[in-house]
Amino acid sequence: SEVKEKFRPKLHFTPERNWINDPNGMFFLNGEYHLFYQHNPYGDKWGHMSWGHVVSTDLIKWNHLPVAMEEENGVMIFSGSAVVDRKNSSGFGTDAQPALVAIYTSYDGKTGFQHQSIAYSNDKGKTFTKYEGNPVINISSKDFRDPKVFWYEPEQKWIMALALSAEKKILFYSSKNLKDWNSMSEFGPKGAIGGVWECPDLFTLNYKATTKWVLAVSLGNGSIAGGSGSQYFIGEFDGKNFVPDQSVSEKIEGFNYFDYGKDFYAAVTWNGAPEEKGTKTWLGWMNNWQYANEIPTHGWRGSMSLPRKLILDKEDGDYFIRQEPVQSVKRYRKSKTILENESITSINKKIEDLDLKELTFEMDYKFKPNKIKDFLEFEIVNNDKSLFQLTFNKDTNEFVLNRFDNELKTEFQSTQKITLLNNADKYVNVRLFADKNSVEVFINNGRYVFTNLIFPKDFNTKIYFRSIDDSMSKMKSITTSKY
Ligand code: FRU
Repeated sequence: SEVKEKFRPKLHFTPERNWINDPNGMFFLNGEYHLFYQHNPYGDKWGHMSWGHVVSTDLIKWNHLPVAMEEENGVMIFSGSAVVDRKNSSGFGTDAQPALVAIYTSYDGKTGFQHQSIAYSNDKGKTFTKYEGNPVINISSKDFRDPKVFWYEPEQKWIMALALSAEKKILFYSSKNLKDWNSMSEFGPKGAIGGVWECPDLFTLNYKATTKWVLAVSLGNGSIAGGSGSQYFIGEFDGKNFVPDQSVSEKIEGFNYFDYGKDFYAAVTWNGAPEEKGTKTWLGWMNNWQYANEIPTHGWRGSMSLPRKLILDKEDGDYFIRQEPVQSVKRYRKSKTILENESITSINKKIEDLDLKELTFEMDYKFKPNKIKDFLEFEIVNNDKSLFQLTFNKDTNEFVLNRFDNELKTEFQSTQKITLLNNADKYVNVRLFADKNSVEVFINNGRYVFTNLIFPKDFNTKIYFRSIDDSMSKMKSITTSKY
């Protein structure tokens, strides 16, 4: 129906119906990206957690498959990962036909205990058989979850990172067969600890010839924009211990965040994806536990972020991570308009003329701070009310993002900020994707990312670029693509 489809994005993954949260069990096999996700098959709020399943060849267009693993006897299937067991270490497959093994948290709703369990699939994740020896890890904890497993080539073993959530620790285990696990080490509390730790991921990224290890940790509450968010540590891993680099973890305000917006959570990387030169591909749940159960969609609730490439980069001797939307999204562009050397005044009519009412578009713009007078603002207005503003302030070299919505609970209102390290005569680039119920902003090739949901009353929206009145602000280019 019209109501049900109102906020349905064109470029982002959403479930056909009902509730979703975290991405789970992502693996790549025979040209297909598989994505499982936390799913309630029976309602549009959190509950009866199961694994939904979709596949894609390009990470944008998803083919919906039946629910892969369902809650059974009140035991929910919480977040976890999946690996293709190529050497048949588990014995669940054959050498010719490796099994897919899912490693997840089994959560018993009656007792509250969280154990780690495994299940295997011999039909590429369509159906799973639970291992009769479950659980494979049981430490009698009620806050122990989200196992992410990967193959560690140097020692020919599987490694699992998972969260001891309330204690803000990541534990590392190893195994030769995915069934018997040995505890190896732990990390934390460190960095941002304002909320429970969830959904860790440990992986490598390369910067030129250097390989670094990255530990991603989702933070349930108290993250940079309020509520849920995601941080990272860059360091070394020797097959046993993860040790963060001092310079990185303590210089940049102590913490490193993947995203400065309110709606990027529980992101983990694809296992086995064909990565380009030491990068990784991932996506996150585009939501925040502060209001996830109350966002105003009907019949379905929740979406994933755009899939992104993670890239290691270096600035002033410190490593940091950039995120760029995957290339394949460009294939869905329908038209493109380029404006060059635009003077920006109080209201730029030309942008308004671009007719972006539908609110699914990409806007790429570029400017030099020293060509801007006072400020440069991008704004989405809906029914004469401001819904979203991204303002560059020349004096402070800051981007300030405002998200408004007077009808949703107060936690939804948000002001977010980052300060650029740029020189005033170097170009700043902004790549912004709006897609019905979200705006994702990638600044300076994804050095800073802001992901936020928005809920316009209708799609009678207007887009403005604004500066002060006297035409002193000039932009190098504004490229608008419709999808
Ligand atoms: C993160 C999370 C995970 C848990 C899952 C339950 O959003 O709380 O820690 O496994 O959601 O749905």
